[in-house]
Amino acid sequence: MKRVVLTYGTFDLFHAGHLSLLKRLKDLGDYLVVGVSTDKFNESKGKKTIISFQDRIKIISELKCVDLAIPEESWDQKIEDVKRFNASIFGMGHDWEGHFDFLRNHCEVIYLPRTEGISSTLLKNTLRAFDNSHVDDLKKALDLISSIVERFD
Ligand code: CTP
Repeated sequence: MKRVVLTYGTFDLFHAGHLSLLKRLKDLGDYLVVGVSTDKFNESKGKKTIISFQDRIKIISELKCVDLAIPEESWDQKIEDVKRFNASIFGMGHDWEGHFDFLRNHCEVIYLPRTEGISSTLLKNTLRAFDNSHVDDLKKALDLISSIVERFD
């Protein structure tokens, strides 16, 4: 019998932390189903992505370790999805520790260690540092530093 693993996420600006989590989850079973948060669902959480839902789900569904990518449209669909796919394992990164323990009545729930030093938020903040308004801020900061350094010349 196929051992189905189920997980969810936004997967904006797909990075090595996402890949590592999905590969480790796939290794726990035979068939990995990934719920990708829709733009509408993210909006309801106050989250805005750089990459659109259409592109995020396309990227996830093309990965070798992913067997099926489905839209995640609400917080409430998890129990139904566990039943629908007959999932043996529900897995997330450990930033979600405890949040989905209510699924333990239906399947095994596990939280895996996150990859240190990388996240979509970190990448967004790095990109933001390069936008025009911040380039102006950086120029001002550099001018200030130069003027301080000149005083010591
Ligand atoms: N994840 C991980 N290691 C990371 C980043 C994410 O294992 N460095 C996992 C999360 O724990 C989650 C899944 O990847 O189970 C999808 O997470 P998502 O929230 O889409 O990614 P983040 O990079 O954490 O995004 P954000 O910064 O917006 O929270």
